[in-house]
Amino acid sequence: MEVMRIGDLNIWPDVVLAPMAGITAHPFRVLCKRHGAGLVVTELISSHAIHYKNQKTFGMFDWDDEERPAFCQLFGGDPDTMAEAARVVVEHGCDGVDINMGCWVPKVAKTGAGAALLKDLCQAEKVVRAVVDAVPEVPVTVKVRSGWDPRDVTAVRFARAAEQAGVKAVTVHARFASQGFSGEADWDIIGQVKAAVSDIPVIGNGDIETPQDARRMLRETGCDAVMVGRAAMGNPWLLGRIGLFLETGVLSPEPTPEERVAVAREHARLMVVQAGENIGVRELRGLLGHYFKGLTGAPRLREALTKVNTLAEIEAILDGARERLTQTPPAEREPTAVA
Ligand SMILES: Cc1cc2nc3c(=O)[nH]c(=O)nc-3n(C[C@H](O)[C@H](O)[C@H](O)COP(=O)(O)O)c2cc1C
Repeated sequence: MEVMRIGDLNIWPDVVLAPMAGITAHPFRVLCKRHGAGLVVTELISSHAIHYKNQKTFGMFDWDDEERPAFCQLFGGDPDTMAEAARVVVEHGCDGVDINMGCWVPKVAKTGAGAALLKDLCQAEKVVRAVVDAVPEVPVTVKVRSGWDPRDVTAVRFARAAEQAGVKAVTVHARFASQGFSGEADWDIIGQVKAAVSDIPVIGNGDIETPQDARRMLRETGCDAVMVGRAAMGNPWLLGRIGLFLETGVLSPEPTPEERVAVAREHARLMVVQAGENIGVRELRGLLGHYFKGLTGAPRLREALTKVNTLAEIEAILDGARERLTQTPPAEREPTAVA
């Protein structure tokens, strides 16, 4: 495994936490970094909201030194607004800007942003150039899907143009926007993008659930790094387990129920420190259950965690759970949740 270089930054190991709205706020990014992720990225942030100085959006500039290099993902279809937003986040200390060209949800795509840019490569290129020119001091990266739909596989053409425009890495989520999260990712497109660019790293993304999946993607596509999304939810250990496996071939054990409880507790504590108890606990209701996927007793625990109002309640539930949770044999495990 080689050190991945994004501009002047060395990324090690070659394992990236996917940006995920509602999941990858600072507390979870830090936990993933502590457990061995090479790179973490904020969830998508609206360039228009930055332009209008939306307070809640400025609250999403929540990176700190522990997660550096800190990448911030922006979305928007207007080159000037994206350039302005990029300058603002860099002024707020972010080390790299990632442009979202993968989000298909109507709220984003209808405004000509996210994956909609894959339908208009000319506009996509303008956005990329504007951002690259606006923040020459940091690397700019782009996250794309295979294309908007199977009638037009744009990722290869776009990646070439993006490299020419000065982008320092491309991430490919190997699905079409029209698929949402359905169907299997078709990794072929990742290999095609890798073959098409000459000098920038390609990060492969889609359906990695295990260290073995990660190795298979690297071998089959020749990509430089892997990005892991849904399988990392409630499972920050996975990033480090993948890194270790890629480097040494050693498959470290999955976390014990006690470890899961301890890290879920830490996640809760970090969230409350960051967001305050009211907001933090509300956000945690949907997040903490992920830590117990596949364990006997998980459904009841998840249910209890969706009703909490205070950090003390969360801690009491987790303490009680430690005794009751046991590892379920692999055959009986719940499948990974699909958003
Ligand atoms: C809940 C959720 C939120 C997501 N939010 C974002 C986002 O903010 N920006 C982005 O580029 N992709 C987002 N994605 C897509 C992921 O980054 C990733 O591309 C996708 O989940 C495929 O990877 P996986 O199969 O490893 O999950 C999101 C995915 C999920 C499940």
